[in-house]
Amino acid sequence: MMRVLSGIQPSGALHLGNYFGMMKPAIELGEKYESFYFIANYHSMTSLFDADQRRNNTMEVALDFLACGLDSQKTVFFRQSEVPEVTELTWILSTLTPMGLLERCHSYKDKTAKGISPNHGLFAYPVLMAADILLYDSNVVPVGRDQKQHVEVTRDIAVKFNEMYGQTFVIPEPLIRDEVAVVPGTDGQKMSKSYGNTIEIFGDEKAIRKKIMGIVMDSRSPAEPKPDANQNTAIQLLKLVAPVSVANDFENRLQAGGLGYGDLKKALFENCWESFSSARKRREELVSNLDFVHQVLVNGAEKASAVAQDVLRRSKRACGLD
Ligand code: ADP
Ligand code: TRP
Repeated sequence: MMRVLSGIQPSGALHLGNYFGMMKPAIELGEKYESFYFIANYHSMTSLFDADQRRNNTMEVALDFLACGLDSQKTVFFRQSEVPEVTELTWILSTLTPMGLLERCHSYKDKTAKGISPNHGLFAYPVLMAADILLYDSNVVPVGRDQKQHVEVTRDIAVKFNEMYGQTFVIPEPLIRDEVAVVPGTDGQKMSKSYGNTIEIFGDEKAIRKKIMGIVMDSRSPAEPKPDANQNTAIQLLKLVAPVSVANDFENRLQAGGLGYGDLKKALFENCWESFSSARKRREELVSNLDFVHQVLVNGAEKASAVAQDVLRRSKRACGLD
């Protein structure tokens, strides 16, 4: 059976980009296929240096996933560091990873260009990600477009290992949904924590409203027809959170002229708030039952470990480490 795997870093509050780009597709795939999802707390060590914050964020991600509908009966859901075999495989893979392959990675180049002083972990990050994917014989990896290159690096490393030491690893495929590949933020760029343009899903009502009302628009008058309505950030977000007929109606009104941006943003806020109301309720219930959340993660790690140990044994045997 096809196995789906993905990870998310515990690096801050869940936003619409994370949800529509990664979490929602992952949860939907989890209903049909065998799925492994984990909280990438080792990865977060490359850029977050506060232990309490890591611990808290990890719990927050677990709550977010479960509140958004992850079925803990069907899905193996765990903390990356609970299966430390991944670090051993990282070493093995790193010996086959050309420096040039890592030097070409956009996410590394983007971060250093922003002035982040890079540690070795940040540079080697894609190798840890390759180990995450290969350790579980994953076939499909649902991610946003920014992670595609890392899955390609994983494929390159796996192919090289298989050629050098014999058939060992499954070659994974990235899965990117075009319609949500890049969810725009309040400034129209890709929504991202690092750009400060996010709209949170479980934030405070007032704060979310304020962010939505602050979405950057042009200075055209409400009466003016807008033939480029489909490029409008609020329309693009409305298409994600509102029923199709509602989003189409607003797009047509914006296109024809006569719809003010304030009214459009108000509709976006209302639909956004409404569309996450049951997830919000579920999250409140989970917050008052943290033992359950812990147990889900412990059970997940147990199941993940069994697979990881098998695959690690197989790869050590292939390269003469048995
Ligand atoms: P951020 O850019 O806010 O730090 P992450 O890098 O933690 O987000 O991304 C977690 C997951 O969410 C990844 O799979 C990523 O591809 C996806 N994702 C993040 N932002 C977006 C976006 N704006 N549109 C689509 N997917 C996104
Ligand atoms: N690097 C991914 C991100 O920042 C998170 C991640 C770590 C991941 N390991 C993974 C995603 C394995 C998919 C598969 O979003």
